[in-house]
Amino acid sequence: MTSRTVQTSPIEGQKPGTSGLRKKTAVFREPSYLENFVQCIFDGTGGAAGKTYVVGGDGRFFNAEAIGVIIRMAAANGAARLIVGQGGILSTPAASNLIRKYKTDGGIILSASHNPGGENGDFGIKFNAPNGGPAPEKITDAIFARTREITEYRITEEEAADIGRIGTSVLGACRIDVIDPVTDYEALMQELFDFDAIGSLFERGFRICFDAMHAVTGPYATRILEETLGAAKGSVINAVPLPDFGGGHPDPNPVWASELVVIMEGARAPDFGAASDGDGDRNMIMGKGAFVSPSDSLALLTAYAHLAPAYSGKLTGVARSMPTSRAVDLVAERLGIPCFETPTGWKFFGNLLDAGKVTLCGEESAGTGSDHIREKDGLWAALLWLNILARDGRDIVQLRADHWRSFGRNYYSRHDYEEIPTQDAEKLMTTLRNRLPDLPGTTVAGMQITTADDFAYRDPVDDSLTEAQGVRIAFGDGSRVVMRLSGTGTQGATLRVYLERFVGRSGDHAQDLQTALAPVIAAAETVADITKHTGRSSADVIT
Ligand code: G1P
Ligand code: ZN
Repeated sequence: MTSRTVQTSPIEGQKPGTSGLRKKTAVFREPSYLENFVQCIFDGTGGAAGKTYVVGGDGRFFNAEAIGVIIRMAAANGAARLIVGQGGILSTPAASNLIRKYKTDGGIILSASHNPGGENGDFGIKFNAPNGGPAPEKITDAIFARTREITEYRITEEEAADIGRIGTSVLGACRIDVIDPVTDYEALMQELFDFDAIGSLFERGFRICFDAMHAVTGPYATRILEETLGAAKGSVINAVPLPDFGGGHPDPNPVWASELVVIMEGARAPDFGAASDGDGDRNMIMGKGAFVSPSDSLALLTAYAHLAPAYSGKLTGVARSMPTSRAVDLVAERLGIPCFETPTGWKFFGNLLDAGKVTLCGEESAGTGSDHIREKDGLWAALLWLNILARDGRDIVQLRADHWRSFGRNYYSRHDYEEIPTQDAEKLMTTLRNRLPDLPGTTVAGMQITTADDFAYRDPVDDSLTEAQGVRIAFGDGSRVVMRLSGTGTQGATLRVYLERFVGRSGDHAQDLQTALAPVIAAAETVADITKHTGRSSADVIT
């Protein structure tokens, strides 16, 4: 093997965001852009010499090419072994599992998650730590610091062997194992869930629709749901991963997974619907004609997780990201287990999971997961739901209605204002932050503000402090507004407004969602002058 040292210089803006480095695909294809960042991953984590990494991605345009570069760079940097998904395919949860199972030094995952792919779409790369989770801030900070001082990178002259075929090859001293992307993940799911119960549910004629959105989960869902568990052929739709996700936006929410919504609202709707995103870590859950909000899903899964073998009697605690509704808090309280509130981004759950303080965790943005890996996991969420439904016997819509009667309902919605000029978005947030001390005790749009702050998180495990994680405004009637700017966008700024209104046990749980939230929406507008700052009279995406 001949390796080359190539002179390079720092490239502006290689700062990892909420979930790795995400940019337009065209930016990643600029000379040295990918190479610089990969070298900085190695340099920022003590070098690649002698190390083992998992490498794979969500199959989007440029995935295979990028993996070729990473293999050549890892070999040139002295890595001992790479575990690569066949065809460069690994869902984010499957990669997390492999990192943990084979005790590797981490993994490099190529994905821009739910962002559109293709030549004109987005691309991304993230480093996951040896625990299988997204690199914590001290690692991403070290990588970013390297991007500002890099002078050279190393790469082999030779190409790596074909990653399209399962098998082992070598590139210099580096062993490359190309593996089936599904096998290890399926084995893990089999350990966690009652496959017999789910299988007999399907035998009894229970019908499902799983929308893989032409993204990475297709092969996983087809193998596990159809081939192993016996769901009817065709239960998994859009099952073949495509480089541009079929031109779609692989984000499992009612707006982007409209094909699933139409099926689930149709006359012959299946009993259960689910979808997952570009890299397979997000999930959307539906019953006949009913969308289960991710916040409610987390609460319900917590309430019924004991029906799955892995979680029976084993829930130590739960965690939710700060903007996620407080529905799960009520369940945790009744179960007598702690509920942690963390900043947005899966990486903040890592320490809690590692320390055994929480078993389940989730985010309002369609992420749910457990201590089985260190990423959220879309197909896992669908399987846990199926396990619960198989063992409980009730229909999902009934189960949820009973839950609301028992705990009350947290009406919840997120309003996104996308691609706002960054300066305008920052001005909105700064103006709002400056007003915070004066807000408690005042009334806006008829709603009394009780507390207002900018969320700061003290990690209970390593004591690290993360500040300015979003403005929280709580009202006297238990409602809440949260506002923050997205950390995953690639163009301009996205303002996220999270709205929540609690209606107690005996209240009306069947109201139209946006109508129920109208007073909170009006209060958010008044307190933050959203229209004035953004020039928009309504949100671009409402989920
Ligand atoms: C978004 C979600 C967040 C999630 C992240 C990665 O981040 O809001 O919950 O962890 O994507 O999937 P944001 O764009 O809000 O920073
Ligand atoms: Zn994702």
